[in-house]
This record gives sequence, C-alpha cells and structure tokens, in this order.
Amino acid sequence: LAKVEVDMNSIPEGKNVIIKWRGKPVFIRHRTADEIKEAREVNWKSFRDPESDEDRTKKPEWLVMIGVCTHLGCVPIGESGDYGGCADFRDNRFCPCHGSHYDISGRARKGPAPLNLEIPEYSFNEDEGKVII
Ligand code: FES
Repeated sequence: LAKVEVDMNSIPEGKNVIIKWRGKPVFIRHRTADEIKEAREVNWKSFRDPESDEDRTKKPEWLVMIGVCTHLGCVPIGESGDYGGCADFRDNRFCPCHGSHYDISGRARKGPAPLNLEIPEYSFNEDEGKVII
C-alpha cells in the first residue's frame, strides 16, 4: 500500500500537520519539551487503555497517530474540553461527536472512546529528514 513521506523540517516545534493516509487523517505533531513532559508524567496507568507515551512514540518529540476517534470514528478536533483545549490542535483531544477526551499523547481519558488513538506503522528517514507513513 502507498506510503506517504512528510518533510519533518517543515513542521516547527509546537506545530503539527494533518495528512491523509489511506483515506484517514493522520496527525503528525512536533512536540515541545513541555508536551513530552506532560505526556510522560500524567497518571496514564489509571486510563482505560493504559499505554506509556514511550510505547506510543519512536522519538519523544514526534507524535504520529491516526486522527479517528476510537468510539464511532469521528475526527477529534482541537477544541476545548474539560482538560483545556486549543484551536491549533495542540492535542486534538476532544471528539465533538459524543464528547470523548484524549490526552496529550492521544490516550482515551474520558467519554465513550474505549481505546487510545491508533498509532500507524511509520519510520524515520534521518538523512532526508522525513517521516514515512
Ligand atoms: Fe468520538 Fe463518539 S465518535 S466520541
């Protein structure tokens, strides 16, 4: 199946892009040190689908995940939810359909979503500064 290459140099720290991959939106976020810290320090073991941030990322500064709510498949938007929101997708953690919330690492935290946002297969091409999905 087709792979998509994304130039990592075009995504400054604290920003993200949304690309289309196999008909689905994929979020690629260049995380800040604060975001990485939050993702790692939150009490994720108490979440319904406990998964460490280390298990969800190949490099801490890059979060790559499929932007499809694990409840019924809406696309979560970066709007306000109970844990603070942000219009620039800082976390894309609020699903408007039925109110699922995801944390900074895309882990299901509240609402009906049973699972964390899915992580696709991906790799880095360091020489070319690309992420390949
Ligand atoms: Fe996202 Fe239902 S589809 S909360």
